[in-house]
Amino acid sequence: MDKDGFQLDIAAAEKYETSLVPAVLRPLAQAVLAEISIAEHDVILDAACGTGVVAREVRVKVGSKPRIVGFDLNQAMIETANSLPDPHAKSCIWEVADVTNTHYDNEEFSLIFCQQGLQYFPDKPASLKEMYRLLAKNGRFILTVWSELSPLIEAIAASVKQHIGLEAEQKALSPFAFRDEKIIGALLAEQDYAHIKLRSVGTLRVLKASSEAVKNLILSTPAGMILAQQNQQIVAKVVEEVFDKMQPFKLAGELIIPQKCHLFIATK
Ligand SMILES: C[S@@+](CC[C@H](N)C(=O)[O-])C[C@H]1O[C@@H](n2cnc3c(N)ncnc32)[C@H](O)[C@@H]1O
Repeated sequence: MDKDGFQLDIAAAEKYETSLVPAVLRPLAQAVLAEISIAEHDVILDAACGTGVVAREVRVKVGSKPRIVGFDLNQAMIETANSLPDPHAKSCIWEVADVTNTHYDNEEFSLIFCQQGLQYFPDKPASLKEMYRLLAKNGRFILTVWSELSPLIEAIAASVKQHIGLEAEQKALSPFAFRDEKIIGALLAEQDYAHIKLRSVGTLRVLKASSEAVKNLILSTPAGMILAQQNQQIVAKVVEEVFDKMQPFKLAGELIIPQKCHLFIATK
């Protein structure tokens, strides 16, 4: 578990939006939304929204009618979401809140998404209890957590471990530190859901096959924030090592790296 909960400064949050979101979090949101029906009368929450990619993709799918709220603990993520010129972002409400203790009403939302957040919450039972409190009767809680280690992140973790140390390695691996479907399913089952379904969603991490793209991706993560404090030789070495290890995934000028994810659909 990442004890710092994927907290980024403003520079990293902006890089997150321009690098990690298009590389993996938008494709994942699109793959998940292909599985989920949404109605115009739904009231939608994007919990631990980061820069709000799920909320924005929901807007693309369902149009301008539903109320869509996104919240995140990290001020920098919310500032970035608020500053996006995209009209889909402008039509959502972005707020800072802690997932274990939000200011929303009981049963305020009919559809709650939490994409790649659970693994970073220090108090997982409390966060799931709060999501249940906010969900309307018959509402759905859509939870995604990576189900397998990415070769890209494994390469980053090995390199930062060698050149920086164990804390950087642990931060690099944090997206995958909580992925046992039985444990997650049991935590969800502590709430009184009518049913809980588990599916597997496959997506691809796609980024330009350039060392610059690899560098930007690394710098948009908590491990990258540690890397950014190192000297230029170490940064260049890590980027070079990771880029070299990704060569088997190179296709037509891009790195295309498969990634699998648990998709839990819990209905109240
Ligand atoms: C990997 S990011 C995912 C963000 C977003 N859902 C996406 O798909 O781009 C994890 C997010 O969880 C947020 N987070 C961590 N702990 C939190 C908490 N206690 N309450 C709310 N958000 C939290 C972080 O600030 C970060 O934005």
